[in-house]
Amino acid sequence: MKTTITLIPGDGIGPEVTGATVRILDAAGADLEYEKHLAGSEALARHGNPLPDEVLDSVRRNKVALKGPVTTPVGHGFRSINVQIRQKLDLYANLRPVFSVPGLPSRFEGVDLVVVRENTEGLYTGLEHEVVPGVVESLKVITAKASTRIARYAFEYARREGRKRVTAAHKANIMKLTDGLFLDRFWAVSKDYEEIQADDRIIDALCMHLVIRPETFDVLVLENLYGDIVSDLCAGLVGGLGVCGGANIGDDSAVFEAVHGSAPDIAGQNLANPLALLRSSLLMLRHLGKVEIADRVEVAIRKVMVEQKVLTGDLGGSASTTEFAESIVRAME
Ligand code: NAI
Repeated sequence: MKTTITLIPGDGIGPEVTGATVRILDAAGADLEYEKHLAGSEALARHGNPLPDEVLDSVRRNKVALKGPVTTPVGHGFRSINVQIRQKLDLYANLRPVFSVPGLPSRFEGVDLVVVRENTEGLYTGLEHEVVPGVVESLKVITAKASTRIARYAFEYARREGRKRVTAAHKANIMKLTDGLFLDRFWAVSKDYEEIQADDRIIDALCMHLVIRPETFDVLVLENLYGDIVSDLCAGLVGGLGVCGGANIGDDSAVFEAVHGSAPDIAGQNLANPLALLRSSLLMLRHLGKVEIADRVEVAIRKVMVEQKVLTGDLGGSASTTEFAESIVRAME
């Protein structure tokens, strides 16, 4: 039976990487039906709203969306579509698996970790104000509820995926109340998962250890800002944002999206690497229980990477987006 998902191609390179991803998923036999929606400036021009209600209704109905990057105007215009979607659908867990890709030059080998970032609070609540001219404040909000559910998500993920260890990162030595609460909830939740090793690191020390011995880490759980920074740092350990998938997951729905932006500098030229969105779509297939199809595509990706014959420019090759996609399709045959 076909599974219907919401498809938001986005703008810039979004439609190109989305088209390549859909081509590969269809060739792999993912058996998906796509409900396509606009978001961002094109939706604003056509519907008077950069995030029309029908987009959110579609995700709520289908429970799963695949989303390309959407440009956010800088300094003016509408709020980030990505942040709005996460907040409106309460997609509290941001998931980014990071693993070494054979054939892709990077500084480390044997990296296989997962960053779980709290997606709804911390310093991202937007509560900023001017106290007096020259003095501004930004409020960091940490709640027991959100800290508990992200810790539980991380341990549940570890249990489901057969992972051995969950490490919490914090700065509770300085932010004793906020990060202290986050850490306190992490340790409380860890008691329900005796088979999984739990530990914690101060965020700055974690960053140092990550760039020295990344292969020693397994699952990381972090509040919003630390998670934002560390997830990009980790992508850099294995070849950058162009090769990592990501997902935003809530209790009712999930949005799978590339972690890079709309790359206006190369948009419309058939140059973009579709791998990040493709990898996100594989997370989506696993989420939907289509594990064998996801494995099949992953094996084909690795084959193409190891062969080093058909790669996009950012990976050191000269292939177009569509040529790269077709080589993955051929590798599945
Ligand atoms: P970007 O990720 O779009 O581009 C940074 C650099 O990486 C550029 O040189 C670009 O050509 C390259 N690049 C990115 N993705 C690539 C791919 N798949 N293949 C080959 N090269 C790739 O970041 P930037 O320029 O800071 O942001 C552009 C726009 O994207 C902004 O409006 C930003 O707000 C938005 N954005 C949207 C995101 C989303 O929708 N999830 C996430 C990040 C940024």
